Amino acid sequence: MSTTLTQLPSWRALEAHFQKVRDLHLRSLFADDPRRGERFSAEAENIYFDYSKNRVTDETIQLLLKLADEVNLRQRIDAMFSGEKINVTEQRAVLHVALRAPKDASILVDGQNVVPEVHQVLEKMSNFSNRVRSGEWKGFTGKRIRNIINIGIGGSDLGPHMAYDALRHYSDRNLTCRFVSNVDGTDFAEAVHDLDPEETLFIVSSKTFTTLETLTNARSARDWTLAKLRDEKAIAKHFVAVSTNEKEVAKFGIDTENMFGFWDWVGGRYSYDSAIGLSLMIAIGPENFYDMLAGFHAMDEHFRTTPFEKNLPVLLGLIGIWYNNFFGAETVAILPYDQYLDRFSAYLQQLDMESDGKHVDLEGNTVNYQTGPIIWGQPGTNGQHAFYQLIHQGTKLIPCDFIGFCQTPNPVKPHHDLLMANFFAQTEALAFGKTAEEVKADGVADFQVPHRTFEGNHPTNTILADRLTPSMLGKLVALYEHKVFVQGTVWNINSFDQWGVELGKVLANRIIPELESEQQPDLKHDSSTNTLISRYRNLRKA
Ligand code: F6P
Repeated sequence: MSTTLTQLPSWRALEAHFQKVRDLHLRSLFADDPRRGERFSAEAENIYFDYSKNRVTDETIQLLLKLADEVNLRQRIDAMFSGEKINVTEQRAVLHVALRAPKDASILVDGQNVVPEVHQVLEKMSNFSNRVRSGEWKGFTGKRIRNIINIGIGGSDLGPHMAYDALRHYSDRNLTCRFVSNVDGTDFAEAVHDLDPEETLFIVSSKTFTTLETLTNARSARDWTLAKLRDEKAIAKHFVAVSTNEKEVAKFGIDTENMFGFWDWVGGRYSYDSAIGLSLMIAIGPENFYDMLAGFHAMDEHFRTTPFEKNLPVLLGLIGIWYNNFFGAETVAILPYDQYLDRFSAYLQQLDMESDGKHVDLEGNTVNYQTGPIIWGQPGTNGQHAFYQLIHQGTKLIPCDFIGFCQTPNPVKPHHDLLMANFFAQTEALAFGKTAEEVKADGVADFQVPHRTFEGNHPTNTILADRLTPSMLGKLVALYEHKVFVQGTVWNINSFDQWGVELGKVLANRIIPELESEQQPDLKHDSSTNTLISRYRNLRKA
């Protein structure tokens, strides 16, 4: 049993402090300190981070910062940035920060500077993207490529898909970009149903190039292409691969000349700024992609060099620890007030939950404290008309991150002001609520008063940025990547492996032949699984 964390002086002090402040209301915290809004805020890289509407005092923040020191956060950050093999269970460095390092930087893995290779791949991606975008790269029959389909799953899908949606304003509107991930054939069928194979390029994205879903979809894409083009040579014009596994790419039949590589020190969920972002680069163009990388790098540098009390990912991470480990909150809602960030919470779900969903510490001891939270959410204002009721008046404590922008690329009056009015109103309502006295003063009938009372004291972070540009997207993603790292460091877990997804894959591989066999299989599962499989076999042809 891992007890080290809970024995730390700062942890014990936080426990004692929690007992003192747990019932403090944001109403009194604000009433007692007219400057609270400014004092509990930090700003960097055109991101204003207001954390004043959290149930924290100066002492809470001081103790959390002490905790960061006691878990050696500074040394852990340095270890990650310098290429140490901090992914101990897989014996790998963790260097997504090298993917956006400037050309002249030097980051060593096993004594070798990896930055030049990163830039070589970026140049290869840029050349290819420009050729597709300009029409120089043609399909097998000489037609221009108009459709880009990324086939991948998890980190090989969620990042490029989220970022393509987020940066659609910057994309070439003559190109159709789609993303196929699910092994459910519907995903593939719907993605191609209105497309012409002669004008379609598939990007098969898989770090390992062994993932069942991706290879199945890639084979179907191959069949779909050959059904019309009827020549194996067409594959070279309509398929490229993004992978670390040259051997499997060649085995699949894709010319490794048309392969864009990356490295084992890039985790899948940290990879969309590598070649995994090729579909995105084609859509938005290399220049915008480089701007995005510059945004990532700016946040990396902020994280690496800024004192913790002004460091956005550190503050975001520590405040999350406060709710997760002391208030017992189980979830965090991500609420972007920007339709372009429609898939942002789905992206952060993998980033956070696959990283910090761990039950043993770095030494393999079972932890006696909570680790990663459940991440969920959807853009405002849609969420307001769906699940906010529970956040306002339910029985659960749900810390929320509100993300909004001062400018919109679509200034259709009066939309943006209405959107942002809701953005500001929600954090205000959540924090301050409405007392029974205030409800009564409105003339509400007595029987309705309890129902119309808002307790308030619901904590929120506000992340207010100037505008959602490629660079800003990079900054926001890096902010959350590093937040996840801060929390994983406090919990002393490995945020960079994902063994938890293996068992299901192994068992599925065992069941596949049982579903495919013509003969009645000899099922040796439990009584529930046996019955379900038999029922499926009997009814599937109906
Ligand atoms: O779900 C497990 C996982 O390994 C993720 O970590 C990864 O992003 C995804 O599968 C896809 O893996 P690959 O890129 O190797 O196909």
